[in-house]
Amino acid sequence: MGQYHDMQHNLTQKHILLGVTGGIAAYKSVELVRRLRESGAEVRVVMTAAAQEFITPLTLQAVSGQRVYTTLLDSENEFAMGHIELARWAEFILIAPATADFLAKLAYGHANDLLSTICLATTAQIIVAPAMNQQMWNARSTQENYQRLQSWGVRFFGPGHGLQACGEQGLGRMLEPLELVSCLQTLFQRGTLEGHSVLITAGPTREALDPIRFISNRSSGRMGYAVAEAAQLLGAQVTLISGPVCLTVPLNVDTISVSTAQEMRDAVISHIHQTAIFIACAAVADYRPVHPVDHKLKKQTEFLEIILERTPDILSEVAQLSNPPFTVGFAAETHDLAHYARDKLLRKNLDLIAANQVGLPGTGFESAENALKVIWKTGEIDLPRCAKPLLAKQLLNLIVEHYFQSSKFNRLQPS
Ligand code: C5P
Repeated sequence: MGQYHDMQHNLTQKHILLGVTGGIAAYKSVELVRRLRESGAEVRVVMTAAAQEFITPLTLQAVSGQRVYTTLLDSENEFAMGHIELARWAEFILIAPATADFLAKLAYGHANDLLSTICLATTAQIIVAPAMNQQMWNARSTQENYQRLQSWGVRFFGPGHGLQACGEQGLGRMLEPLELVSCLQTLFQRGTLEGHSVLITAGPTREALDPIRFISNRSSGRMGYAVAEAAQLLGAQVTLISGPVCLTVPLNVDTISVSTAQEMRDAVISHIHQTAIFIACAAVADYRPVHPVDHKLKKQTEFLEIILERTPDILSEVAQLSNPPFTVGFAAETHDLAHYARDKLLRKNLDLIAANQVGLPGTGFESAENALKVIWKTGEIDLPRCAKPLLAKQLLNLIVEHYFQSSKFNRLQPS
């Protein structure tokens, strides 16, 4: 139970120094501070001069419940908590929004204002959430600064893709406050799944008609691969059983390549007894040709009839085992999403189901982004549209929370 409690408020008493620099996204700092505090964090805010053109220190003082720090050479501020003390106090420094100018300062070790000085004086992990016009993000100098900072261990949350304040579309948007908090939670949760094994299916399957042709679907495998990566980041021992996709195998994940639904089922069943959490992300073909032929089919007749039979339902088979793991399914629906997903949750006896609406432009199959409605027996929550790696982290946070509450987790614990 203690572990679950930590999970829900896993930023509890963490010291987070929020650096706000001068971009339009500075107005989101208000919500960011509120969300960080809701997660239990203690937040102190440092603002640059340009940030104060967008939002006042008074506003951030009100939401953080703390004095806001703005200048380096201010005897009153230095008396209250000097820059060195702030640098020591911080466990994490989150700079959101981080402008192109501030990235350049960080990359070249400038210390001509309070925030850049603290960044030089700290041993805390520095995290930046860039926010700028897409052209500025893609500029050679910014990209070089980005590489340089990353190579020193500075972490980047985002930037995200989408419509920008300047009216342009592209990479450079600051992630939403909830997304930033979720990324931080994942950092703090590092190790929460240590010693727990997670088995994931991903991608489509191919069902042969002849040696050349097959029945398949549009699944890119991106969501499953992102889920595998998110589970690995939490310290889990991850096995990914993947249909044919064009993706790089995630680091430190045992990946098994399969082609057909039957091969995927056999690989899952042979690993399932060591599995604590099973997440079925694959878009498994529901039907396969009964009689695939071993030579190329010739176009000899006007019509060609192919008889299909059901493939094994891997998820149902796992959920019906006498000692099943914590089992998570996906549901892709074109309409009545919540209704069909809840029905599937109960019918297949799942612990959790992640449902997504298909047929919307820019989300779902083949796209880089998605939105999910996550449903369990006694509740549900919407995870709004964002990039699949971020969505996967948020989904994993929910899975972990429910897994640690479930009897399946308790059963595995020594008495
Ligand atoms: O019943 P439906 O195919 O809509 O269920 C979708 C869920 O079931 C997904 O989690 C998918 O990975 C899983 N599934 C499976 N084996 C099948 C069909 C679907 O594991 N043959």
